[in-house]
Amino acid sequence: MRRREALRVVANEAVGAYVLLRVERGRIDPGVPGQFFMLEAPGRPLPRPMSLCQAPPGELAFLLEAVGPGTRALCAVEPGDELYVFGPLGNGYRLDIDRPLLVGGGIGVAPFPYLSQQLGGPPALLGFRSGRHAEAAALVPNAEVVVEPTLVTEPLAGLGGYDVLACGPEPMLEAVRELAPRAQLAWEAPMACGYGACFGCSVEIEGVLQRLCVAGPVLEAA
Ligand SMILES: Cc1cc2nc3c(=O)[nH]c(=O)nc-3n(C[C@H](O)[C@H](O)[C@H](O)COP(=O)(O)OP(=O)(O)OC[C@H]3O[C@@H](n4cnc5c(N)ncnc54)[C@H](O)[C@@H]3O)c2cc1C
Ligand code: FES
Repeated sequence: MRRREALRVVANEAVGAYVLLRVERGRIDPGVPGQFFMLEAPGRPLPRPMSLCQAPPGELAFLLEAVGPGTRALCAVEPGDELYVFGPLGNGYRLDIDRPLLVGGGIGVAPFPYLSQQLGGPPALLGFRSGRHAEAAALVPNAEVVVEPTLVTEPLAGLGGYDVLACGPEPMLEAVRELAPRAQLAWEAPMACGYGACFGCSVEIEGVLQRLCVAGPVLEAA
């Protein structure tokens, strides 16, 4: 059941080039890995969608990359501040699979610590653009890490028989889809409401315009 609650910030920790924001859980349900939450930075009217990264007892943790004003404001919150959190939203990964392999690029690593925990620590392939970004791989057990110019699809091309669960930038997801046509892919689109009301996240899925926050963000590659 989704809810919107003001949650107290417990910690704001640097993880390489990213920020791990830990908040008290309140009465918010962590949901299924791959679902997302709308986070409102204090004093900013529009929330931003974020995947749940970790769900330790009594807390929710989000891994953030500062790419613009909204994420910069979220990365700047301090312990003791309050943050409105709304969720869980959308559809997460299907977990009824036999041989999971997590494939992530950049900040696409964000949902994997929680996903890995729920799946019992499956193997993961993670790609980053620098060694500093790659420090986030420490949050995911059993991860093989590549740094550009090597792309994460290069080691993936040599593997077969896995149920791939992927998250990352669009070109990476397109390349993963070519290699693993049955993969589950977590897509992104700019989102204003997160629950189907604004149509701001409409994207073409199977030739039809659909709201990614309702149909996804996790979709079957096929
Ligand atoms: C379901 C979902 C889960 C997400 N999970 C995380 C997460 O766990 N951690 C994290 O750091 N980020 C995550 N994101 C991305 C994050 O929401 C955006 O980076 C953020 O909204 C950008 O806001 P801003 O105000 O900082 O930058 P803006 O000024 O809004 O944008 C900065 C730049 O990023 C582009 N951009 C903004 N939003 C998106 C988007 N969603 N997709 C592609 N390009 C975009 C803009 O065109 C612009 O070039 C997620 C997005 C979605 C849809
Ligand atoms: S974000 Fe408003 S409809 Fe999807």
